[in-house]
Amino acid sequence: MADTSLFDKSILPEIELPEGYTLRPLSSGDYQRGAVEVLKVLTTVGDFTEELYRERFDYWFKHNDTYYTIVVLNANDKVVGIGTLMIERKLIHQAGLTGHIEDIVIAESEQGKKLGLKIINSLSAISKAVGCYKVTLVCSDHNVEFYKKCGFKKGTNEMVSVSKADGLPLDILLQRVTHEVIC
Ligand SMILES: CC(C)(COP(=O)(O)OP(=O)(O)OC[C@H]1O[C@@H](n2cnc3c(N)ncnc32)[C@H](O)[C@@H]1OP(=O)(O)O)[C@@H](O)C(=O)NCCC(=O)NCCS
Repeated sequence: MADTSLFDKSILPEIELPEGYTLRPLSSGDYQRGAVEVLKVLTTVGDFTEELYRERFDYWFKHNDTYYTIVVLNANDKVVGIGTLMIERKLIHQAGLTGHIEDIVIAESEQGKKLGLKIINSLSAISKAVGCYKVTLVCSDHNVEFYKKCGFKKGTNEMVSVSKADGLPLDILLQRVTHEVIC
């Protein structure tokens, strides 16, 4: 069965990547290419199966004006980077749209090649294309400089109430009461 693209790639801006790399929407077959595996660099992903991936992909596909997940693949067709933009539909600002950037990861062996920057630039461009009046993200202290280099600036505080630790050490969750970076 042919792979399904999460959303129409024509919304993506022209982005120059190092030779051999491609950036595109997440596809239904990307579990096999390592789309979940690469997230382990960021945090726990739990006991994951391809079936669970397909379930989540199908949900996102049905709501693909809300979930924009993109991946970077290397020359071996392996997912080496991933990131998501989620669109929130508000009442304020005349029923405005705001974007939330989530779960940005580049595989350890591929860091430092500007792939993270390209993912953020692409997600920011999508947020503008769909009409968001702002895009926000939460990050740990050691990534603030990275997001500044992506054109973001430090915004207000994030507050967290943890209801389910889901395998994450509580101290890590609570450390996330840190910074919101607002574009
Ligand atoms: C943070 C992360 C996404 C950056 O991706 P990357 O592809 O390695 O970064 P890039 O090569 O695009 O870096 C762009 C610029 O930011 C700088 N930069 C990257 N990470 C940085 C950091 N943690 N602190 C300071 N500067 C950083 C780079 O040196 C580069 O600067 P330059 O333009 O002056 O050369 C990647 O390191 C990663 O996946 N880390 C682990 C998971 C994680 O923390 N994700 C973020 C969740 S909020």
